[in-house]
Amino acid sequence: MNPFECIDAGSEYCPCYLAEAGECTVCTLLQGKEVCACNWSKVCIYQRYLRNGSKAVKRKQTVLCDISEARRIEDGIYLEKITVSRAMARALNHPGSYVFVRGLTERSFFDAPMAIVDSDIMAGTVTLAFHVTGPKTRLLELSSQRLFLRGPYWNGLQGNRAVESIRDARCLVVTGGMSQASVPLVIKRLLAHGNTVTLLVNRPGPFFIADYLPDEVKVYEVPLHGNQGRDTMEALPEKENIAFAYSAGSTPQHELVRSFISRHCPEAGMAISNNHTFCCGEGICGSCMVTMGGKAIRSCKVQYDPQRMTEEEAVCP
Ligand code: FES
Repeated sequence: MNPFECIDAGSEYCPCYLAEAGECTVCTLLQGKEVCACNWSKVCIYQRYLRNGSKAVKRKQTVLCDISEARRIEDGIYLEKITVSRAMARALNHPGSYVFVRGLTERSFFDAPMAIVDSDIMAGTVTLAFHVTGPKTRLLELSSQRLFLRGPYWNGLQGNRAVESIRDARCLVVTGGMSQASVPLVIKRLLAHGNTVTLLVNRPGPFFIADYLPDEVKVYEVPLHGNQGRDTMEALPEKENIAFAYSAGSTPQHELVRSFISRHCPEAGMAISNNHTFCCGEGICGSCMVTMGGKAIRSCKVQYDPQRMTEEEAVCP
């Protein structure tokens, strides 16, 4: 069984450009093999491709959007509320949702991936956060009225199945740095499925998602780096009852959470923020490629179980 799944498989955006190039991550027939050996994703991608005249279906759109609210939080971190269509807000209301944005006067290679912090379907808005760290975000900072937004994209985390399947259980979310932008949508989904959530936020460090967390989330602002992180996690009560953990932060933080789970609750499900460098988000450019299980995968498209599979090394496209 293929341990990898495509985040877009079976969606209105499937089959995509990769099918046209003979590089579909799921369909072995579209890869040029003679045997059908996909993980069934509720549709036959090959049939859809043929029925669509042997070309990709709907493409992710770039739209010009108004910035309805912009807030500078601290040290060059901004929260921006963007007006979008209700359909786009609905599409971006899932754990792992993100978009590419760029300033009004910039070319498409200025597109920068941003996690969705919040989505309001009725109001038709999404909120995203960014930290000014380089030319893309510096120019975005100057574009205060409107921006170009491309989306929707969903592979901002690995372990989507675990997030969606956990019910009526105790969940732990661990976060720090800008990756916390992906946390509110994950918590929203966990609470909607009857779970309880404990959130550990790394301090000192930014904490800008407090306004997007429901009251029932137990929040602890604690140190999570190095040995202090290990001590913090070990001090958690009822560790054995944790049934799911989400780590949104650095790769060392993912390791901290992974080893905590294997020590205390090895049956628990796990998800992690996807920290790879995204450039196109379509599986084309190769900037997000990693080797896993001896196979080169495009991590902007491919889903895997982060508890069982870890990255071996980055590969050149
Ligand atoms: S970001 Fe371009 S292939 Fe993944």
